[in-house]
Amino acid sequence: MAAPVIEVSELTRTYRSGGLFSRSRKEVQAVRGISFAVRRGELFGLLGPNGAGKTTTIKMLMTLLLPTSGSARVLGLDVVKDAQAVRRKVGYVFGGDRGLYERLSGLDNLRYFAELYGVPPKNQKARIGELLELVGLNGREKERVEGYSRGMRQRLHIARGLLHGRECGRHRRPARHRGRAGPALQRARAGDPFLAGEREQAKVHIGHQLIAI
Ligand SMILES: Nc1ncnc2c1ncn2[C@@H]1O[C@H](COP(=O)(O)OP(=O)(O)OP(=O)(O)O)[C@@H](O)[C@H]1O
Ligand SMILES: [Mg+2]
Repeated sequence: MAAPVIEVSELTRTYRSGGLFSRSRKEVQAVRGISFAVRRGELFGLLGPNGAGKTTTIKMLMTLLLPTSGSARVLGLDVVKDAQAVRRKVGYVFGGDRGLYERLSGLDNLRYFAELYGVPPKNQKARIGELLELVGLNGREKERVEGYSRGMRQRLHIARGLLHGRECGRHRRPARHRGRAGPALQRARAGDPFLAGEREQAKVHIGHQLIAI
């Protein structure tokens, strides 16, 4: 069986606030020894009540936060030792209103982030066109984001998260399918923005309060 795309082992994170000797010093154990693996093509979700540690777990996988103990690998790379390499390979789809430039058009947002994510200039136009089609924003891309509905913003977030990806979250039509819609594109057109890949499976992990599906 292929190696997992994400492998998490006994991962913990404790937040410490207040000075070292201060009375107001507080420790919050946000993630307590979670372990799970995600395989290629698997659709995976983390469920838990507010404060269960979902965002903290995702931040560690995205290399935005250091684990207190345990380990996590993404595409075989360690999120601490190989952080730079992990960053080049993962995309993060934000939710809500943050992370987009309201006064710019959807197209200009994607152009800007393509530049930031290091998409080679000669590939940018095609890549952006492909993603606009994929998320169903074709024809609306020249309008400012401030006029987008919530769902349109979320679609733009998804396009942004997939911009640079080659492996994680990347859906590419094979060359022989260019010119006609591949299965992912057909599903996008049918209204499914998540394009879960070829094979969908669900898996549940329960540890403390955090559930991974
Ligand atoms: N920067 C921080 N400093 C101190 N404590 C934090 C910090 N960020 C999160 N926490 C604490 O860590 C715990 C887990 O928070 P986290 O944001 O990971 O939860 P979550 O599962 O994403 O919750 P939600 O469903 O509300 O988004 C909470 O008790 C929270 O108060
Ligand atoms: Mg959260």
